[in-house]
Amino acid sequence: MYSEKVLELFRNPKNVGEIPDADGVGTVGNPVCGDMMTIYLKVEDDKIVDIKFKTFGCGAAIATSSMTTELAKGKTLEEAMKITRADVADELGGLPPIKMHCSNLAADALHEAIKDYRRKRGEKV
Ligand code: FES
Repeated sequence: MYSEKVLELFRNPKNVGEIPDADGVGTVGNPVCGDMMTIYLKVEDDKIVDIKFKTFGCGAAIATSSMTTELAKGKTLEEAMKITRADVADELGGLPPIKMHCSNLAADALHEAIKDYRRKRGEKV
């Protein structure tokens, strides 16, 4: 069963959408089910000042995307790189074991977006 938090975020996800002039973009696909997710970042002084996501996936993927963006907003890039799929699942009050793979997408897309930002600035990733 899904936790109340997962159901709430599935119904009313936060930070849905696209940032057209994003500083970093990360897209990942889930090899288990074929679902896809993209995360867009705006960065100022090494901090994530805005973040949005687009997810073509199941309810758990949407809830984890929403939670990941909430956890990452306002954090430094360094801190956001440390957000793990386990952190996201914990904040959601857990996920059914069969849905744990869905939580991989969001943290991975966030990390890819940060790497994209760093690459664009000519930093090594
Ligand atoms: Fe594909 Fe959940 S079933 S992300």
